Amino acid sequence: MLEQPVLLLLHVSPPSQGLVDAGRPGDSRSRCSSSLRLCFCFILVFAAVYLLLYNRNLSESSTDWSPKWLLNFNSGKWLKQFKSLTQSQKSPNTTDPSRVTGSAGAAAGLTADSSSSGTDQGTRSSSAPPPAPYVSPGPYLVEYPHQYHFTINEPQTCAEQQPFLVLMVPVAPQNRAHRDIIRSTWGGDSSVLGKVVKLFFLLGLKTGEGAEQLPEQLLQESKEHQDLIQSDFVDCYKNLTIKTMVMLEWLDTYCSNVSYAMKIDSDMFLNLPNLINMLINAPRTNYLTGLVASGAAVLRDPSSKWYVPVEVHPRPQYPRYALGLGYVLSLDLPRKLVEAARDVRALYIEDVYLGLCMQHLGIPPTDPPGPGYFHVFPVSYDRCAFSKLIATTTHENDDRTWMWTDFKKPGPFC
Ligand SMILES: *[C@@H]1O[C@H](CO)[C@@H](O)[C@H](O)[C@H]1NC(C)=O
Ligand SMILES: *[C@@H]1O[C@H](CO)[C@@H](O)[C@H](O)[C@H]1NC(C)=O
Repeated sequence: MLEQPVLLLLHVSPPSQGLVDAGRPGDSRSRCSSSLRLCFCFILVFAAVYLLLYNRNLSESSTDWSPKWLLNFNSGKWLKQFKSLTQSQKSPNTTDPSRVTGSAGAAAGLTADSSSSGTDQGTRSSSAPPPAPYVSPGPYLVEYPHQYHFTINEPQTCAEQQPFLVLMVPVAPQNRAHRDIIRSTWGGDSSVLGKVVKLFFLLGLKTGEGAEQLPEQLLQESKEHQDLIQSDFVDCYKNLTIKTMVMLEWLDTYCSNVSYAMKIDSDMFLNLPNLINMLINAPRTNYLTGLVASGAAVLRDPSSKWYVPVEVHPRPQYPRYALGLGYVLSLDLPRKLVEAARDVRALYIEDVYLGLCMQHLGIPPTDPPGPGYFHVFPVSYDRCAFSKLIATTTHENDDRTWMWTDFKKPGPFC
């Protein structure tokens, strides 16, 4: 509260400055100075009265003032958040607890600050203590939406090359070996069945051991291959949802002219011709496919890798969602999903989270045209079997370079 009068005075002072400037020309200066003093006094009195009234208003509405609130308001971000929050209030399906109900603000990125705008749904009583400037989303939610920035980017590639399909591979920044394997196997083909395909790797920031030399190495690698996209969130398993959402923002900003994108994990085998063939006949909008899970149970055992407590997702099951190992989407979806993410609290399990956003949009994921296209359990390498699928997880110890050489050799597959 103490900063407030200072700020208000700052607001008041520029006009008086303007008056002094206006009184400058010629010899009228001395004549003006007395009236100026009068003016200044008037302004001071005015400011005092304004302050008094403003203070009363503030205490009456009992909102919590903070400089950040003003900043948010100025940047227009606050207005956006307000809009999205009020929209979510208006949305008919208010029974879905996974939606933001205006109180937690985890999906509002800047968290509790926006609560001073009166968007509360009454969950915070008017006598509540002032909100902390930063509220951690807790272990099961991630910091999204949030203004992340790209530290390495390829802003022109899609516009210049107009690919039909972009492959987006999330990978840890230090994991160059994985990237090199993908570049020399299924990620290396830039044209498949006459369609242009572009490969990008998605990285966050590496922290801890070996983090100092990495930026230089990554810049070098980026210069060499022009396929790295890096954003400034901490790259770790718990943050995969941030990676996926930043990927969608990137696709919407830089590749909206592309027909399809596939997010595919770095330990996968991908049969691009089969994928392209499926996409040639696929819908161009509202299309998301992969290995679609239906009625998946929420894991309530706290020792599980994907544990989610009842408070975060009260229902026993998740909506339909495409498993994160590899899913394909039409390029109208990134923008819709990013918008939906303002209303859906950002669960740390990225594929489930996309499912929740799809549910919010009322767009169900599409099953692939046939079974056996996507495999979550590794299919052992076999030329014939691999010629019939689109994507499969590989065994950790598989020699993927050898597999690829064998797969690409001429001759019948089966
Ligand atoms: C998008 O594609 C259309 C038609 O193919 C083309 O006219 C337009 O210039 C493209 N826009 C961008 C930004 O690449
Ligand atoms: C996830 O990223 C955010 C933003 O960089 C960071 O504040 C947070 O600590 C990260 N989470 C973990 C578990 O490291």
